[in-house]
Amino acid sequence: MNLVLLGPPGAGKGTQAKVLSKELKIRHISTGDILRDAVRNKTALGKETQEYMTKGELVPDRLVIAIVKETLQGNKADSGFILDGFPRTLEQATMLDETLEGIGKKLDVVIFLKTSLETSIARLNGRRVCKGCDTIYHIKNIPPKKEGVCDQCGNSLYQRKDDQVDTIKRRWSVYNKDTTPLIKYYTEKNILKEVSGDLDVDRLNTILMALFQKESLI
Ligand code: AP5
Repeated sequence: MNLVLLGPPGAGKGTQAKVLSKELKIRHISTGDILRDAVRNKTALGKETQEYMTKGELVPDRLVIAIVKETLQGNKADSGFILDGFPRTLEQATMLDETLEGIGKKLDVVIFLKTSLETSIARLNGRRVCKGCDTIYHIKNIPPKKEGVCDQCGNSLYQRKDDQVDTIKRRWSVYNKDTTPLIKYYTEKNILKEVSGDLDVDRLNTILMALFQKESLI
């Protein structure tokens, strides 16, 4: 199954993508994770993109499109993928269609995680991420067993620079302007399914798995 998770900052895209990727045994492709790795490793891509990310702006389409194109074309044999955080603009969506067509694939479903600003702010303010394996926690909703330490690999947890309230609001305004047109784009293609992102992780996962079954996607 080839799936896109669409939704505002803090909708829970990364959290669900990690769970679904294990359950469905399909690749999780997060442009946010790829870009943060590049910044951490001080690569040329990281140096070019760091400022956009810290400010909560979108990284230019040409850079993100090149990353996703390379990843998809390099993994043609995969049984499926979950795109998390991509596409985010109409230009990215068009390029995705062209790239998939070029490798004989198509998108099966786009899940729109409709989420309130209040939920988003509460989640992102409390988010902590593992420096080693990128596991996502929340200080109240999904706390690690030992404060500040990853349950999975024992590395320390950090708070993302773009998880400050002002930057969260900036990310929302970018989302409203650049990404919400994709809801219409995928509705017209008849592959958009809307689910509440405000639900807790397990409930949301159960609903998504039931939806995939109903649509005969798994
Ligand atoms: P990116 O990393 O993609 O950020 P985002 O889209 O703003 O999404 P988030 O990662 O903030 O939230 P999420 O929905 O994944 O929520 P999560 O599961 O972590 O992008 C970052 C930046 O990179 C962008 O601003 C841009 O600069 C650049 N970029 C990336 N892709 C790009 C692209 N395609 N084009 C251009 N630029 C791009 O959960 C959040 C918190 O809530 C966590 O603490 C989690 O534990 C908790 N939580 C999750 N689900 C639940 C739940 N159901 N119930 C309770 N708590 C929950």
